Amino acid sequence: MVLLVIASVFLLCGTLFQSPEVAAFKPLFKDGSLTHREITQMAILRKTAEVCRDIATARGREFTLTINNRLTPSAVQKACLASSSSALFYLAITETYLSNAAVDVLFALSEARHIDNEAFSEGRDLITRGVAAVKASVQQGSYISARNTLGTLCHTLQDFYSHSNWVELGSSSPFSALIKPDRLLDNLAGPNTPTCKSCAGSNCRDNILPEILLQKKLTSGYFSVFSSQKPAGKCSHGGSLDRTSSREPTGGINKDDVSSDHGFLHLRAAEMAINATMEVLQDIRLATGDQAFLRLVGLSQTSVLAFVIDTTGSMSDDIEEAKRVSFSIIDSRRGTPEEPSEYILVPFNDPDFGPLTRTENADIFKERINSLSASGGGDYPEMCLSGLLLALAGASPSSDIFVFTDASAKDSELKSTVRAMIERTRSTVTFMLTSPFLFRRRRDVSQSKSFTSRSMPSSDKQLYRDLAHVSGGQTIEVTKATLFQATEVITDASTSALVTVLQVLRSPMIAENISFILDPSLFNVTVYITGDSPVFTIYNPTGVSQSGSVADGPLGSILTVGNLKRVKLNSDNQTGEWKISIDSTSSYSLKVTGQSSVNFLFNFVEQLEGGDFTPKDNRPFMGRNSTLFVSVTGGDSVTLTDVLLVEASGSDVVNGTIKSLSATDFLVSIARIPEWAFVVQLKGLLNDSTRSVPSRFQRQSPTQQQGSRVTITAQASSTIEPGIPSVLNFTVATNATGSSYIIRARTDRSFSVSFPSSLDMGTGGSAQGNVTLTAPSDTQSGMDVTLTIEAEDPDSGDSNYVAVRFSVMTKVTDFSSPVCQVVRVKADCPVECSTGSWELSANLTDINGTGIAGVSLSRGNGSFSLSHVMSGDGTNVTVASYNASCCSQEVELVVVDKVGNVGTCFTSIKSPSTTASPNDSTTISSDEAVSTKGSSTVRPNLTTFTPSASYSVSFSMCVTVLGLFVFFLCG
Ligand SMILES: *[C@@H]1O[C@H](CO)[C@@H](O)[C@H](O)[C@H]1NC(C)=O
Ligand SMILES: *[C@@H]1O[C@H](CO)[C@@H](O)[C@H](O)[C@H]1NC(C)=O
Ligand SMILES: *[C@@H]1O[C@H](CO)[C@@H](O)[C@H](O)[C@H]1NC(C)=O
Repeated sequence: MVLLVIASVFLLCGTLFQSPEVAAFKPLFKDGSLTHREITQMAILRKTAEVCRDIATARGREFTLTINNRLTPSAVQKACLASSSSALFYLAITETYLSNAAVDVLFALSEARHIDNEAFSEGRDLITRGVAAVKASVQQGSYISARNTLGTLCHTLQDFYSHSNWVELGSSSPFSALIKPDRLLDNLAGPNTPTCKSCAGSNCRDNILPEILLQKKLTSGYFSVFSSQKPAGKCSHGGSLDRTSSREPTGGINKDDVSSDHGFLHLRAAEMAINATMEVLQDIRLATGDQAFLRLVGLSQTSVLAFVIDTTGSMSDDIEEAKRVSFSIIDSRRGTPEEPSEYILVPFNDPDFGPLTRTENADIFKERINSLSASGGGDYPEMCLSGLLLALAGASPSSDIFVFTDASAKDSELKSTVRAMIERTRSTVTFMLTSPFLFRRRRDVSQSKSFTSRSMPSSDKQLYRDLAHVSGGQTIEVTKATLFQATEVITDASTSALVTVLQVLRSPMIAENISFILDPSLFNVTVYITGDSPVFTIYNPTGVSQSGSVADGPLGSILTVGNLKRVKLNSDNQTGEWKISIDSTSSYSLKVTGQSSVNFLFNFVEQLEGGDFTPKDNRPFMGRNSTLFVSVTGGDSVTLTDVLLVEASGSDVVNGTIKSLSATDFLVSIARIPEWAFVVQLKGLLNDSTRSVPSRFQRQSPTQQQGSRVTITAQASSTIEPGIPSVLNFTVATNATGSSYIIRARTDRSFSVSFPSSLDMGTGGSAQGNVTLTAPSDTQSGMDVTLTIEAEDPDSGDSNYVAVRFSVMTKVTDFSSPVCQVVRVKADCPVECSTGSWELSANLTDINGTGIAGVSLSRGNGSFSLSHVMSGDGTNVTVASYNASCCSQEVELVVVDKVGNVGTCFTSIKSPSTTASPNDSTTISSDEAVSTKGSSTVRPNLTTFTPSASYSVSFSMCVTVLGLFVFFLCG
């Protein structure tokens, strides 16, 4: 929650950046107290486990996991029988809680974001608009935006329980009106109503006025770091930073941690915040369906198949090959755990590029790639980097993206932006560069003309090589005739749970022995060597060797095509230390990958005064200390022995100091961020319970990171309205005074942006600027756009960036949820329940709203049909007729309107009236015999909205199929 910028106190980087102190649930780490990170993670784990349990129950399967606050991501992932690796689940949870934690710094002084100063209605607006945006983003498949928005809104929702007196009022459930815009916020203490008395010294147990407690009036603490002013008689937030708490009534009521003024209620407030977060997740689940919910939390993701394809005249063979390889991947993996969960396609030409196709449906992808044809573009070069930028921003983080082209990039000025997006998304980019056939039958004049002109100068190839290296990808240079062999690497990369064991880049070249550890969790280990002239020999742990010129040997099979050598290792005697001795007269790259459930995530975090941390999502400050937050996924317990920053194209190393937070989470202090670009390498022991001896393992981040001497931060709301200019303030800071920085701002979707072309740092070493961003007025709600702002020192070339993701949202005006009213229940149930059935009919209406878009069951395994009638007063009524076996005694219908407002009705026939005379046929009126309830929330204006009404889809995806694989990996 609240943070303060104490001007002189916390100068993170000298005069650089005033980093505030936090006063709310702590953002990330705090011994003995629950932080926003833990509250968010626990709510996601519990709700996800519930969804998996309901799916299992609906399919008649056992679900044995106990749902409590001790769940771990790997336990939930296993119980859900979900994808083969928990890494993407971890990643999604991490994205969500980091954007939650970031609110403390980005919106440190906003009363609404933290529900300080009785800003209930403003805070509720932020929450409900956020929920609407999450639903719209999910609907568009923009899961990253959805997670960012979800994290941000959860901050405000969770702070309510720490900063208000809801817990002190003795409440036993969350304040649901906070997520329901059509409910009244009643019983608020008025602006002139005193709410607190002074604490007795430092004892604030009893400082809320008795009449406030008695009348159950809601209030929240006032907070200011600048002034002690507050309305007469009002409670303060409390704590040393809150100047209002030194004025009568003194002391405060916050429950941010166990040592706060109301710290004795901290755990209760935190638990209530977990429950409230689960409530908002349930609303999103009902509006979007179970399948989409599981994707939102990263649980049904496997791999991404992402192509960026040049469609100019000479590319027809390449396009055919892209089709062939993608069709073969799709067709051979359909229905298996290796089936990609997301497909990305971006064509580029000149001057056009895009659109981005992002779909979970393989058939749509096939259709789009089938419709590509090579044409035009005689005036080489093409808009390659624009197309790549769109794919980088659109794909899930850590995707493998393949670019097909035979031409130089016309838009090479995008290089630094593309590089920033590679660092930010940690995606890997591999370029498939083809050169034309030497002797080729002329097809038509224009094509042959373009052929003769299309031979790429090596300086232009270097641009692709540089970007591939930065991302941990490769530049594969082949003729069009041999492309089909090289695309094997696409098949390799499009598998789930792909991990990098080692990647090195060498130039200048010296003969060298490079070793790496293979652990028992790895399989399908592949070694790639790209370069013009590498000569190498591989040695396994038992000393058996194979030369790089032997295609089939004792250690594996070697494919040689163009500048690529791919070695698929056999699995004999695999575990232990391997060695490659390699010599080359030109630069080369070596990469060792495999499939494994064990992987890691890392994020830079910045320490604030007082010991808290906040996420740092761009380049860390060069030459200064920094901290990495590292999570190892897929193992119950690991020991980390080394966390290293390894020079990306050399062998210098910076060693981190490791502090363990839990069995799989670590904080690593880095004494000094190096001048060179680096990769993060991890070494340690897997303490696998099934093995008596821990086994050594190593992993590496494929993507390079680098430091900078400039920082840039931006305060952004997560949504923008189509057609309306939106202004975003940003701050650039450095330790050099008097310098001037070049500013660049771009979106991946070519939306209109205006910004200052340079900023003068002046003597303070910092400057403010703003970017105005306008989305075209016909942009669909839920579409995401990524804005990258870069600041570059023109003398040294040093730069930093900030990448902000927005969802475009039309203002929601429909706040009324559909109404579901049960009008008839006919339950004629015999004692032997399986021999009878019961029926229900319900009227569904959305009178003042956008209209009903979908109906589904969230409980009950009967079937329903819908019909439409006109009621007496001329309103449209949808009638749902439900029929179920007498053994299934409960039903909950979920009705969603076109903007995602949810209405539900629940009916149980477990009531006395049906059990009393089970053999009588009774028709009862709903009002007396059944309980009904309604609930609602908002969602953005979508033209089509179809909640998943099908449990079978979710089930087969996430239970049956992936289950086999998980069992295989983790069982
Ligand atoms: C949170 O929800 C659980 C399960 O519904 C309930 O048992 C618990 O008492 C709730 N906690 C609080 C603090 O309301
Ligand atoms: C990967 O390994 C699994 C298990 O060892 C094997 O069944 C599968 O065929 C391998 N896949 C490839 C592409 O080699
Ligand atoms: C595997 O190890 C066994 C026993 O040490 C040895 O006989 C065999 O040659 C090894 N195989 C390979 C391919 O290294």
